[in-house]
Parts: sequence; C-alpha cells; structure tokens
Amino acid sequence: MNESHTPQPGIETPPPAQGEVRGGVLSPTTDDTDAAPKSTWRSRPGRSAVQVPATADDAPIELLPGGMRPASKHYVVNPYLLKIREMPEWVVEGTRLAPLMGQWHTYFQRKAPFWLEIGSCKGEYLTELSQRHPEVNLLGLEIKYKRTWRLGRLAKRLDLKHVRFAEAEGEAIGTFIAPGEIDRVIVNFPDPWEKQKEWKHRLFQPKFLDQLYTLMPPGGEIWFKTDHEGYFDWTNDLFRADEHRWDITFATRDLHHSALGSENIVTWFEALFTSHGLPTYAMIARRR
Ligand SMILES: C[S@@+](CC[C@H](N)C(=O)[O-])C[C@H]1O[C@@H](n2cnc3c(N)ncnc32)[C@H](O)[C@@H]1O
Repeated sequence: MNESHTPQPGIETPPPAQGEVRGGVLSPTTDDTDAAPKSTWRSRPGRSAVQVPATADDAPIELLPGGMRPASKHYVVNPYLLKIREMPEWVVEGTRLAPLMGQWHTYFQRKAPFWLEIGSCKGEYLTELSQRHPEVNLLGLEIKYKRTWRLGRLAKRLDLKHVRFAEAEGEAIGTFIAPGEIDRVIVNFPDPWEKQKEWKHRLFQPKFLDQLYTLMPPGGEIWFKTDHEGYFDWTNDLFRADEHRWDITFATRDLHHSALGSENIVTWFEALFTSHGLPTYAMIARRR
C-alpha cells in the first residue's frame, strides 16, 4: 500500500540524504539534542541517574538553565519529562508504567489486539499502522524524552484514537506487560551496535527472546527490519537457535522487492537509508 513514504499532516518527513556512509553503515545526521544524557540512557541497567519525584505536583522543582536542579549536582530533571507529565492521556511516563501491567485494555478503554513498537522516534509508522488497523491498540516506546513528548503531541494533534506512547526502554517490557498480553512487537531500525564489544547492547539477545516468549500468546509475532546486514543475521540466528519456540515465517534481504514490499510502511530511517541505496532486511518470527 505505502511503498514510498507518504508525508502526513503533522509528521516530519526525512530530509534529503545527508548522512555519511561509513563502512557500509549510514550515520544519520539527525538532531540529537533531545537525547537524555548518553551516559544515563545507554548505561545498563536502567537510567538510575535520572531521579525525579513521582509526579509533577509532588514538589515544586526550580530548574536552572539546562534542566539542572540546584539542590544537587547529581539531580537532573529533563524538562521534556515535565512536559510529558502534562499529557498523561497520550503518553505514559516510565514511573507510571508498572501498574498498567495486565491492564492495557483498560488504559485503551477497549479489549482489542495489542501491538507494541520499540523505538517509535517520529511516529510515522504507528500513525500509518493505526489507519490500516483501527481494530488494534498500539503502543509506541521511546527512550528519548523530547521524542516521547513530540510523539504525544503528534497523537494529540492527529487525535489518534488507539495509539499511545510511553517513555520506556524496550528491554524493560517485562516490567509493564503481563504474560500473554502483547500480540505483536515491532522493531524498526534499532541501533545495530556495530562493534563487537558493543553487541551486548543490542536489543535482540537470548534473554530478550525469553521475555518476548513469555509476554506473547502462541501466534504472536515479532516484526523486525534493519539496514544492517550483521544485525539481521545476528537476529535470525537467535530465533533459529530457539526454533522449538519460534518459527521464522518471513525473511528477506531486500524487503522493498519482496512479497511484503507493497504493504511495507516506510519509516523515517528506512527512507533515509534507501535514499543512499541501502537495502532493507526484514523478518517476521511467530511464537509457537
Ligand atoms: C535508529 S532510530 C529508528 C527509529 C524508527 N524506528 C525508524 O525506523 O525510523 C531508533 C529509535 O529507537 C529509540 N531507542 C533506542 N534504544 C531504545 C530502547 N532500548 N528502547 C526504546 N527505544 C529505543 C531511539 O531513541 C530512536 O528514536
């Protein structure tokens, strides 16, 4: 249906190709000023350096320019976290996720299939998906505060009925999704963590597959696509090594010229990589 990226109102379209291709991998020159401090969100486990009161009204916070809290140099509040708190009907902040475990149909105010995207970034994928599948409840996870706030603003502006966003790490889904609660998990163009010493940071790991297996019912699906051949092979190998629990029902090294090419929803990063002539690798794994 949407082979090329169709601009939609309120959704940013990818810029003309500007990134550099280094060693076959594109380094996009996107605005990264919205990142939570890298030492914080990239450190494992969790983001323990970010300490904030549970609600905006718990205590008045007087921030110094740059979001620093004057009381302690260790106490950093990202201003976009405060903005996220102003739109709880569209975005769930991380500290409020746990009570929703097993209750997502209540949050969405209807019982429906439940699909989750990890790394929603600009929101174009879930926006289009919600138009194609109005019968599905869609939740997008994003770890960067500014992006999460923008996603909430987008959902509000477009009045997306069954799309919500959450400020959360994909690795943490087991803390707010109940066993068997999620029917599809979508991961588009995750960070490939290219260097061997960084592979431990990749989202797809044996432990993550264990979590997914628990959180999905039989027939649940993982949809994954990437520009990175190495990460594609890595992920394929992981699912194959676990073949008594997963079936790979679809895999291609060139999604745009595959059987699913015509119904593919092109993401922001996908459009950028494609404009540099890179193919899109994709796979679907089904839980047995
Ligand atoms: C390379 S971008 C891809 C964005 C989008 N899926 C696309 O295809 O255009 C990865 C996105 O995932 C987010 N992200 C990275 N690690 C994440 C994690 N562990 N959990 C949730 N989101 C994450 C980043 O902030 C970024 O927005």
